[in-house]
Amino acid sequence: MRILLMLFCLTCWLLPNLNRIQGQEAWTAPAYTDSLVNPFKSDKKIIAEAKKIYESACWTCHGLTGRGDGPAATGLTPKPADHSSAKVQHQADGALFWKLSKGRGVMPPFETTLSKQQRWKLVCYIRELAKQNSQR
Ligand code: HEC
Repeated sequence: MRILLMLFCLTCWLLPNLNRIQGQEAWTAPAYTDSLVNPFKSDKKIIAEAKKIYESACWTCHGLTGRGDGPAATGLTPKPADHSSAKVQHQADGALFWKLSKGRGVMPPFETTLSKQQRWKLVCYIRELAKQNSQR
């Protein structure tokens, strides 16, 4: 009887938390972010600047080529996003900007540690990584 009760309690706790444990809850940016416009047009200078930021603040989790395979990615749930994947590339610039500003779970919020300009340049860089990975 006691075991049954324990099982019951466990199930009650598990069900609402299942998504979180599996880390599969979809992460969607609010609709208004789709209309935000990146003030930068990707060019060599911007990519070079963004690369520096990426290779200090992002690569440990997302990997140098953005595939989500950085050294700190092992053991993280959910896994750091593959920035060159269709799932990421199908999102609007504004949605990516919002996500990297706000963060979620182990993904840190960069709203206060990086300037607005730096964060928009990183969005250019995420697009650039996808281009480069498709040519590798
Ligand atoms: C400590 C590890 C870590 C660091 C550092 C990190 N990220 Fe992440 N990032 C994650 C994880 C984990 C996720 C998946 C979060 C989720 O789905 O709940 C993620 C998700 C994202 C997403 C959303 C992708 C999607 O699927 O929609 C973007 C964009 C992103 N990261 C950009 C960045 C950028 C840019 C930096 C550097 C300024 C950075 N991240 C640094 C771990 C990290």
